[in-house]
Amino acid sequence: MTPPRKLHIKSYGCQMNVYDAQRMVDTLAPEGFVETADPAEADLVILNTCHIREKASEKVFSELGRLRVIKEEAARTGREMKIAVAGCVAQAEGAEITRRASTVDVVVGPQSYHNLPKLLAKARDGAPAIETEFPIEDKFSALPAPKPAAIRARGVSAFVTVQEGCDKFCTFCVVPYTRGMEVSRPVADIVADAKRLAENGVRELTLIGQNVNAYHGDDENGRTSSLGRLLHRLAMLPGIARLRYSTSHPRDVDDSLIEAHRDIPAVMPFVHLPVQSGSDRILAAMNRKHTAADYIRTIERFRKVRPEIAFSSDFIVGFPGESEQDFADTLALVTQIGYAGAYSFKYSPRPGTPAADMQETDTALAVPAAVMDERLAQLQALIDAQQASFNRAAIGRTVEVLFERAAREPGQIVGRTAYLQPAHVMASPDIIGKVLPVTIDSLERYSLKGRLASEETAVASLRSTQRESETFA
Ligand code: 5AD
Ligand code: SF4
Repeated sequence: MTPPRKLHIKSYGCQMNVYDAQRMVDTLAPEGFVETADPAEADLVILNTCHIREKASEKVFSELGRLRVIKEEAARTGREMKIAVAGCVAQAEGAEITRRASTVDVVVGPQSYHNLPKLLAKARDGAPAIETEFPIEDKFSALPAPKPAAIRARGVSAFVTVQEGCDKFCTFCVVPYTRGMEVSRPVADIVADAKRLAENGVRELTLIGQNVNAYHGDDENGRTSSLGRLLHRLAMLPGIARLRYSTSHPRDVDDSLIEAHRDIPAVMPFVHLPVQSGSDRILAAMNRKHTAADYIRTIERFRKVRPEIAFSSDFIVGFPGESEQDFADTLALVTQIGYAGAYSFKYSPRPGTPAADMQETDTALAVPAAVMDERLAQLQALIDAQQASFNRAAIGRTVEVLFERAAREPGQIVGRTAYLQPAHVMASPDIIGKVLPVTIDSLERYSLKGRLASEETAVASLRSTQRESETFA
């Protein structure tokens, strides 16, 4: 028997990439590859890249510089190491990558991961193998088995892709160009994946897609299903205790999604709903297709049916032409909503996007770097304070935790609350996979510490938690 070959994957960017990395591992397992955490002992290193901001893209080339040294070192000891670049930088730059970094053997776009074994075989002959095909038509049905979502269960929580791509064309964003137009998977395929994952011990599913609530897959009767209807279907599966979805666009929050939050206890009361800016002028320039008031109304629709719901968001500071007043509008919106957490980024011009072209034509629109830094720091300080107060509000409460794995500290088991806060308790590992009430005693940075609550106290105190939760929602 030939010894297993070692595979190291480093993923950047979004959850879709984390999921795709798992898919690549599964695609390469039949070829004899096993995963290693150490790139130095790998026979194949895959960089699963992100193109969303310049910094993310540039990281790839500095990482390739480090890998070249490791690869040369391996070659000196007579061991051949291959390097592949996957993900959105691969899609966007294609052969340019091998021109800039000759150490790369394979360049593979997100639509072609099922072809990895073939590409590796091709790269064995010396010349780099490049595949960044873009099947515009039905991406999912065009792909041969295994279908994109056919990943192996890993732990108690799993991602399931339900749609890919985006046709919103926000003027700053490369996604419509790297991941293509919006395509939804059929309901039956998603249910089959979810069922298999549940049978293998998965208790929590996160439905993922670049614009997940634009989901409009066909059901078994040929009717179009919304994300809300899909959540109803998945909630019926035995074993599935929690459902989440990410990332949503405010414009695509329909009544069926709100109703899913109202009617399905398994749908977690925590929604990532990026707004990007609080200024209507900037939102229009971003082509977000909603105003700050529309966004606030959407938040209120959620809160009305699920008072304990909490939100996170993404923000961009320094979008071309952003004035002090525009930025003040963003701070005002954050103050009004009160987030459980949020990501904020400095605007990064992406080649080929309308906002980048606009800024290039009228350089006066560019926000100076120092102003951007200042705004980012101010926004992050506000969000950090909101997040800290949200987390502190859990102290003294009894909350439900889905236990995931043994923690680093001996005897501790770690899980997550409904709001994805890590929660640690001292307990036996047989609680892994269970949702249990935990009384929270303290907060250490972002992590909650507590103890398993006894049954009676748990029920009483969970009821009061639900009433009180309005205070931080
Ligand atoms: N510059 C800065 N941030 C960006 N994002 C997307 N494109 C850019 C860009 N060009 C941010 C948005 C998005 C998140 C995934 O990344 O906030 O929601
Ligand atoms: Fe990009 Fe906008 Fe689509 Fe989100 S909704 S992926 S920000 S184009």
